[in-house]
Amino acid sequence: MMLWIMRFSGFFSAAMVMIVLSPSLQSFPPAEAIRSSHLDNYLQIPVNESTSNSLGRFSFREAPAFRNVDECGPVGSGTEVCDPNLVHVAITLDVEYLRGSIAAVHSILQHSRCPESIFFHFLVSETNLGTLVKSTFPQLKFKVYYFDPEIVRGLISTSVRQALEQPLNYARNYLADLLEPCVHRVIYLDSDLVLVDDIAKLWTTRLGFRTIGAPEYCHANFTKYFTAGFWSNRELSGAFKGRKPCYFNTGVMVIDLVRWRRVGYTSRIERWMEIQKSYRIYELGSLPPFLLVFAGHVAPIEHRWNQHGLGGDNVRGSCRDLHPGPVSLLHWSGSGKPWLRLDSKKPCPLDGVWVPYDLYGYSH
Ligand SMILES: *[C@@H]1O[C@H](CO)[C@@H](O)[C@H](O)[C@H]1NC(C)=O
Ligand SMILES: *[C@@H]1O[C@H](CO)[C@@H](O)[C@H](O)[C@H]1NC(C)=O
Repeated sequence: MMLWIMRFSGFFSAAMVMIVLSPSLQSFPPAEAIRSSHLDNYLQIPVNESTSNSLGRFSFREAPAFRNVDECGPVGSGTEVCDPNLVHVAITLDVEYLRGSIAAVHSILQHSRCPESIFFHFLVSETNLGTLVKSTFPQLKFKVYYFDPEIVRGLISTSVRQALEQPLNYARNYLADLLEPCVHRVIYLDSDLVLVDDIAKLWTTRLGFRTIGAPEYCHANFTKYFTAGFWSNRELSGAFKGRKPCYFNTGVMVIDLVRWRRVGYTSRIERWMEIQKSYRIYELGSLPPFLLVFAGHVAPIEHRWNQHGLGGDNVRGSCRDLHPGPVSLLHWSGSGKPWLRLDSKKPCPLDGVWVPYDLYGYSH
């Protein structure tokens, strides 16, 4: 299921991906099913009547059923979140990005040999989206966590790109607190991506003694992520002393939650957010505090696991191509999103790769 995609332009690249991808979508014959009862363990979530009614505009088809192949290790019949054989994935469910989150989950299940061994942790801020997940993926093992926007409201400063300031963008800082202590590792994923490879491969990434793993981009100009004021302040920029910091994208991270909890990285990130409020040391949203704390201390993951930037620029309508090399995950980071471009009938060539995972629409 590994894809090797060279630099093609125009519709060729999308067509190529589709051809390579299509057989793998159906590649797992139903094996002996490991039966499990459904887990619908929702937390109490304050329901905002106004947004909950507006959810009526969302309608998702039910995803095809999924089954583990024979070789998959046993997942306890109890489907407890603490089962040590589970693969844990955390994704936010934001009303604006819901169509993307649902497609991401769908893609993970489609390409996993052991889809029943995946446990999803959904972070929400507004409404009881658990019902929607349940009707779209009836067999899915998942839990919905309420992330209180007030936790970060006081820490978020005004930013250039308003979209980056949604409180849920900061939920990834709090995974170690939100998830059960028995969850020792989690894969955090943004909502604007799809996997075209088995997430189990990403799950088994060796982090060594590092707390997070992510693809690193050491050729990127690291300077531009912080203001001139930051770099000229020795006390602040001294944070990078003794490190060789490289840019990494926080949309795909493998996180060792045990180490995170032990060191207390959440408050380290919060401390930088406090500093940002008074000194304006960066322009972007949730990314720079992660760079401040982790850049140069990241376990490098193969670039195939974050082919980012496919969102391009919505305003100028630019489309991006894949980077050369194998592709396991396509990430529409940037301001353009495939569902918006498809709806406005102005898709980029690669948006065609996203389409088969889209479950949006009426079932009949
Ligand atoms: C409910 O959601 C609407 C629309 O997002 C918002 O304007 C309103 O303030 C919310 N109400 C409460 C009580 O949170
Ligand atoms: C890196 O970015 C900074 C800030 O935007 C700029 O001043 C500098 O010239 C850039 N360096 C390189 C090598 O492009």
